[in-house]
Amino acid sequence: MSDKKKDDLDYETTGHSWDGIEEYNKPLPKWWLWTFYACIVWGIGYTIAYPAWPGISGATPGLLGYSTRGNVEKAISDHEAELGPINAKLAAAELTAIADDPELLQYANNAGAAVFLTWCAQCHGSGAAGAKGYPNLLDDDWLWGGSIEAIHTTVSVGIRDQADADGDWLRQSEMPAFGRDELLPPEQIDQVVNYVMSLSGEPKDASLVAEGETVYLDNCASCHADDAKGDRTLGAPNLSDAIWLYGGDFDTIKETVWNSRYGMMPPMGGADLTEAEIRAVAVYVHGLGGGEASED
Ligand code: HEC
Ligand code: HEC
Repeated sequence: MSDKKKDDLDYETTGHSWDGIEEYNKPLPKWWLWTFYACIVWGIGYTIAYPAWPGISGATPGLLGYSTRGNVEKAISDHEAELGPINAKLAAAELTAIADDPELLQYANNAGAAVFLTWCAQCHGSGAAGAKGYPNLLDDDWLWGGSIEAIHTTVSVGIRDQADADGDWLRQSEMPAFGRDELLPPEQIDQVVNYVMSLSGEPKDASLVAEGETVYLDNCASCHADDAKGDRTLGAPNLSDAIWLYGGDFDTIKETVWNSRYGMMPPMGGADLTEAEIRAVAVYVHGLGGGEASED
C-alpha cells in the first residue's frame, strides 16, 4: 500500500497506515539532499587524494603525496638553510669578538636562550639560578671561570667527564672523601668544618676553629687555597664567601668533607650541540649578569 494519498486535512501521506495512524510524506529538501550527496563524493575524493585509510603498516599515502611530517621536515630544513650563514659566522668568530658585532650578539643571545631551555634548564633551572649541587649562573661566583672562553670550554667538555679535542683534561678534579676513606679522623673533620664555617659566618663550635685552621692548611689549602678563595683550575669553590654550591650549615659541610661530591655535567660538544649552538649558549650565559672579561 504505497500509493500517495491525502489525509482528511489534505496533507499528502505515504499511504502507510498502522492501526489507522498514517505517515506524512515530507521528503528532505532538494538542496539538503544534493549537499549531502556532494559531501559523500567529496569525502571519497579526499580519501583518494590525501593519506586516509589505515593499513597494517601505515595509511594509504594519497595521490597528492601530502604529508604533515614532510611539511615539518621541509620547514626545518628551510629554516636551517636560512640560518646557515649566521651560524657559520658564529662558529668561526673569535669568541671575544662576538660581543662587538651587534647582529651576531643578538642572534647568539636569542639562539642561546632557546638552547639553554632545552639543554641546561633541567639542571640549572629555567632562570639559571641553579639548585643544590647545580651552580647559579646568574652571579659572579664561578667555580671554573666566568669569561666567555671559560664558559665555552665548560659547556664543550662538560665537568668531570671527558677531555677536549686536544686531549686535555680541563675540567677534572676530585676532592678526597676525607671521612669515608679515613683520611682524617672524625674529630679533625669536625674541627675543619667549624673552621670553614667561621670563614663566612658563625662556626657551630668556636673552640674548634683554631685547630680546624691547621687541619685546613694541611689538607685543604692545596685545592681551596691558603686564603680559601678557591682555585679555578681545579674547580675548587671559594669557601670564604657565603655562596654555597651544596650548603654552608654544619651538617652539609660535614657531608661534603666526609663523602666529597664529585658534581658532574655532561659535555655538550660533539653529538649533542653544534659549535654554533655551544657558542650561542655560552654568549647567553656570559650575558646573564656574572660574565667576566677575558683573561688576556
Ligand atoms: C645534568 C645536569 C647538567 C646539565 C644538563 C648542564 N649542567 Fe652545567 N653544571 C652542572 C653541574 C653539576 C655543574 C657543577 C659541577 C661542579 O661541581 O664543578 C655545572 C657547572 C656549569 C658551569 C660552570 C659554573 C662555574 O661556576 O664555573 C657552567 C658555565 C654551566 N654548567 C653551564 C651549562 C650550560 C650552558 C648547560 C647547557 C648547555 C649546562 N650547564 C647543562 C650540571 C649540568
Ligand atoms: C683535590 C682538591 C680538593 C681538596 C684537597 C679539598 N677539596 Fe673541597 N672541593 C674540591 C672541589 C673540586 C669541590 C667542588 C665540589 C664537587 O666536587 O662537586 C670542593 C667542594 C668543597 C666544599 C663545598 C662548597 C660548597 O659551596 O658547597 C667544601 C665545603 C669543601 N670542598 C671543603 C673542603 C675541606 C674542608 C677540605 C679539606 C679537609 C677540602 N675541601 C679539600 C676540591 C678539593
